[in-house]
Amino acid sequence: MPDITLVQDTWRRLRAELDRFVIGMEDTKEELFIALVSQGHILLEGAPGIAKTTLAKTFAGLLDLSFKRIQFTPDLLPTDITGVKIYNQKTGEFEVRLGPIFANIVLADEINRAGPKTQSALLESMQELQITIEGEVYRLPRPFMTIATQNPIEVEGTYPLPSAQLDRFMIKNVASYPPVETYIEVMKLYGGYSREEPRTIVSRAEVEDMQRMIDHVTVSEDLYRYIGEIIEKIHGDSRVRWSISPRAALHLIRGAKAYAMMNGRDYVAPEDIKRLIKPVFTHRIILTPEASFKGHRAEDVIDEAIRAVRVPI
Ligand SMILES: Nc1ncnc2c1ncn2[C@@H]1O[C@H](COP(=O)(O)OP(=O)(O)O)[C@@H](O)[C@H]1O
Ligand SMILES: [Mg+2]
Repeated sequence: MPDITLVQDTWRRLRAELDRFVIGMEDTKEELFIALVSQGHILLEGAPGIAKTTLAKTFAGLLDLSFKRIQFTPDLLPTDITGVKIYNQKTGEFEVRLGPIFANIVLADEINRAGPKTQSALLESMQELQITIEGEVYRLPRPFMTIATQNPIEVEGTYPLPSAQLDRFMIKNVASYPPVETYIEVMKLYGGYSREEPRTIVSRAEVEDMQRMIDHVTVSEDLYRYIGEIIEKIHGDSRVRWSISPRAALHLIRGAKAYAMMNGRDYVAPEDIKRLIKPVFTHRIILTPEASFKGHRAEDVIDEAIRAVRVPI
């Protein structure tokens, strides 16, 4: 059995390399890695031009896994993602052409530019880990991870993801404009003609070992209760219309285990929960129309719930 420090060491190496290609975005980098280790999918939201695509491509490029990018557009069809059966004139037989979703890491870029049917083709496959093409079932490769990106809805609000589909994402990361120092570094780094490509530094076996290590991270009964009490507070908040599902709780605990390992621990601590709770919970909480109208946000609800619950020692 590989050592738990594999995760911490791999994270150090990967982060150092990511830093050479993308300036800043520390939280986003960390959350990409957490999603990878805990077998979750991640949605990156932010204004155009802040390096969402660049970061996702670089991240995938550093891993010895197959990678496909799907640019979502209004005319993208579900079969452009999943694949089709086509008639081969020479052999006189139908053969399948598997779509770009058959990769270990799939970048679903600008996901809300495509219509609901195409979006749900992606989201369903993420959940089922298999595709049906004309009655035949094809398993997706493992590991399998989707990195989706979207511009804020006000920028390009064509087809917002319905909340049932948002729930499939373990993490939603929201990034805003970086400090101007970052702009200056970006200009220095990429202001010229050439551009370096990332090289593989993490093997497939290492990725799989890290994912398995999650089974060796322990959680105390007190900590489970702590999470339960936070969820209870959120449920009981009168501003909340749709609350946290058990699926969301699973995503939280898996992510917290991954984060514990990144910090060299084989047990989950309250700080892991605090680190992950907003990226995992915020996109699932829907407030009542009155509360939203008054300017309340899901983050406020989570903050208050955390403050109201006693941290176990
Ligand atoms: N923080 C950053 N670090 C490195 N490059 C950046 C950063 N922010 C923006 N860029 C550069 O800006 C350009 C646009 O980035 P891109 O990934 O296409 O943005 P997005 O997908 O968010 O619209 C790329 O050339 C990218 O390298
Ligand atoms: Mg982009």
